[in-house]
Amino acid sequence: MANTVLVGAQWGDEGKGKIIDVLTSEVDVVVRFQGGNNAGHTVKVDDMKYVLHLLPSGMLHEGKQCVIGNGVVIDPVALAAEIDELREQGIEIGDRLLISDRAHIVFPYHGALDAAREAARRPDKKIGTTKRGIGPAYGDKVSRVGLRIGDLLDPTFPQLVAERMDEANRVLVAMGAEPIDTAALIASTSEAARVIAPFIGDSITFLSEAVAAGQSILFEGAQGTMLDIDFGTYPFVTSSNTTAGGACAGTGVPPNRIDRVLGVIKTYTTRVGEGPFPTELQDEIGALLAKEGHEFGATTGRPRRCGWFDAVVARYSTMINGFDFWAMTKLDVMDKIETIKICVAYECDGTRYETVPHNIRILQRCTPVYEEMPGWQTPTTEVTRFDDLPQAAKDYVNRLCELTGVKLGILSVGAQRKSTLRVGI
Ligand code: GDP
Ligand code: IMO
Ligand code: MG
Repeated sequence: MANTVLVGAQWGDEGKGKIIDVLTSEVDVVVRFQGGNNAGHTVKVDDMKYVLHLLPSGMLHEGKQCVIGNGVVIDPVALAAEIDELREQGIEIGDRLLISDRAHIVFPYHGALDAAREAARRPDKKIGTTKRGIGPAYGDKVSRVGLRIGDLLDPTFPQLVAERMDEANRVLVAMGAEPIDTAALIASTSEAARVIAPFIGDSITFLSEAVAAGQSILFEGAQGTMLDIDFGTYPFVTSSNTTAGGACAGTGVPPNRIDRVLGVIKTYTTRVGEGPFPTELQDEIGALLAKEGHEFGATTGRPRRCGWFDAVVARYSTMINGFDFWAMTKLDVMDKIETIKICVAYECDGTRYETVPHNIRILQRCTPVYEEMPGWQTPTTEVTRFDDLPQAAKDYVNRLCELTGVKLGILSVGAQRKSTLRVGI
């Protein structure tokens, strides 16, 4: 398979984990390039359920090489626990995992700072973060005070941490939070380091050699376009580039080695956490989508907000990512709806918006302009060929492709591997 970047086109949880799992059998290497354990990628294989936070979803396929790239921020304690958990679930890791020595470390003080900042925000300013320390860890990276995974192997590591903790604890105390016990932090991190040390290495050279040898690489995005630090609904975003461009910066694979970009998109919309969401439904249809789609956060367990498909978001996302194909997911969740709405534009104060306005105060007040289509009210989850879907379901999917100008590549009608219809790819 060609070198493919796969990213979420909405606010995350589009079903990236499932699509990655399906495509992994066709590639040699799967690499995560941004985010951290704020991500929760669920993969269902028969009656087993795996939720991956830092490990690439490709880990579930025997013999496939997985890489955690330099653009990821890693909590070593969480990663060691995830490795242990996967082993307990019977997944052989062996030498299939490579963790970039250049990836930045997430320490407990990042989590404490994340929580303290959220607590200090006015109710309408709260981001609703996962409290995994992601923002503060990327903040340290950009401020050039972070420590990297390779530093775990350095004999001076305890000293490097102690130096960093000096400032970090002053900030925590100034915010009214408890300081972190540096010795305990060094002890827990060093214990986790023993688990992950065998996997740490030079991912840049590894990936460069894989590309040169003609191996195919799947770049696994986390979060989604509308959570991107540059393109999302700032400040209600995460702290990394979740979009296709992030794949190069987060792995060191050059742009001219990327062959195609796949957008994962739900046939409706969800969002976890705070921030504008123009097509949100706070009625019985929103409740139905949440129930049928089991829309609860894979990382925090929080209920996900649900709403209609937003073609304004999908088109905006397409501009940024250059999607060659859609992987559309969760069509089956809409099986019971009588009349379906699609948002084609926004209106605010008499102005019509065809794309996402930068100003979230405007976005928050936008009302969606909808078109309507009949639902199919027939179960679709057992369907195995696109042509066998009810006509109204085909019409709906085709309309989403038409409105966004992107071809359909994959259509998912259930959480299982077998509920995946290959259409264009
Ligand atoms: P990710 O973060 O993008 O990997 O998505 P999550 O794993 O957080 O959330 C997607 C959820 O939908 C998971 O529970 C998947 O098992 C499930 N899922 C994925 N595709 C489908 C589908 O086509 N239909 C249904 N009903 N569930 C799906
Ligand atoms: P996957 O990879 C959905 C959201 C949080 C919050 C905002 C910032 O499973 O799609 P952060 O902890 O990153 O600073 O939180 O981003 N968020 C996600 N929402 N899916 C995710 O990941 C998310 N990762 C972060 O809810 O609104
Ligand atoms: Mg998720």
